[in-house]
Amino acid sequence: MKVLGIESSCDETGVAVYDTALAGASALRAHQVYSQIALHAEYGGVVPELASRDHVRKLLPLLRQTLDEAGLKVGDLDGVAYTAGPGLVGALLVGASVARALAWGLDIPAIGVHHMEGHLLAPLMENDPPQPPFVALLVSGGHTQLVAVEAIGRYRLLGETLDDAAGEAFDKTAKMMGLPYPGGPQLAALAEAGTPGRFRFARPMTDRPGLDFSFSGLKTQVLLAWRGSDQTETTRHDIARGFEDAVVDTLAIKCERALDAAESDILVVAGGVGANRRLRARLQTMATRRGGRVCFPRPELCTDNGAMIAFAGALRLQAGQQGDAAVHVTPRWDMASLPPLVAAAEPGVGIRDS
Ligand code: KG4
Ligand code: ZN
Repeated sequence: MKVLGIESSCDETGVAVYDTALAGASALRAHQVYSQIALHAEYGGVVPELASRDHVRKLLPLLRQTLDEAGLKVGDLDGVAYTAGPGLVGALLVGASVARALAWGLDIPAIGVHHMEGHLLAPLMENDPPQPPFVALLVSGGHTQLVAVEAIGRYRLLGETLDDAAGEAFDKTAKMMGLPYPGGPQLAALAEAGTPGRFRFARPMTDRPGLDFSFSGLKTQVLLAWRGSDQTETTRHDIARGFEDAVVDTLAIKCERALDAAESDILVVAGGVGANRRLRARLQTMATRRGGRVCFPRPELCTDNGAMIAFAGALRLQAGQQGDAAVHVTPRWDMASLPPLVAAAEPGVGIRDS
């Protein structure tokens, strides 16, 4: 089954084709992402109306480009998957309208995908995918969640942030230190040259039981440290390092607790912050020490993309699920309310047809 995936929930337009007849990482026949970062940078954050208009401009050209890359014609598609939420309502509607119109015109099924389920399943697109049950850490610009994945489609929230998401904390801290939007990856790059330990910030909420997070106090600590410092380039690097170490440490401590609570040794990490090198290394060390496994998507599939939507949609379409022809999006959407994947071709991931 060749499934087209469309992602347009925020400031990235993503299009991909996932072919369930192919095995492992080669099943991703093509994927393209167009980032609107330059458009929003001068405003210091995403402007929803500008995001919607840019999706309108970029989606169809990107779709043609992706089909070309896959060596396919639009008539070769067997299904369409699109992000139906959570996200910006106008931006979501662009992807949903194109997806629904295409599916209607081609008389093929279409399904609205939960953006965070897309992130969560992205590591399963790689070779040697983990099988549920496992624990997932979802760390993006809007979410920080620990989820017990009992099966694909059966998600139990173990903990989440009470205020800022990890990516949001990276972005806000970067902004305070004078870096342009979205500063997360740039702050991480600054931290590379920083001296560990010169600035030590709190590991919020690790001194008490529980799996929730809180990152908003951390940015205030960084602000105070930055204001009280000599504000040299070296200090900028050292503060960035101190901040990154605090976030990474906090996430790792809670991940280990979540694995203990769920009696699991498999951790799956997804979402934009999952691209962070130090987080990847720290979680790898922890998993090795436990004799377990940590699975990440390749860094380009950590941030928003159409591949994860094509993949998550393909699993559900293969299980016989699809939506009706209405263009419907859900800007706020609880992942625990998703239906389980009732029928699968194989146990676990269960995606291979003929
Ligand atoms: O998953 P994503 O692309 O979009 C959302 O669904 O939110 O995540 C974007 C977030 C941004 O906050 C960005 O700063 C952060 O992920 N991010 C990083 C890195 N790459 C992206 N944060 C820290 N280190 C990185 N290397
Ligand atoms: Zn995302």
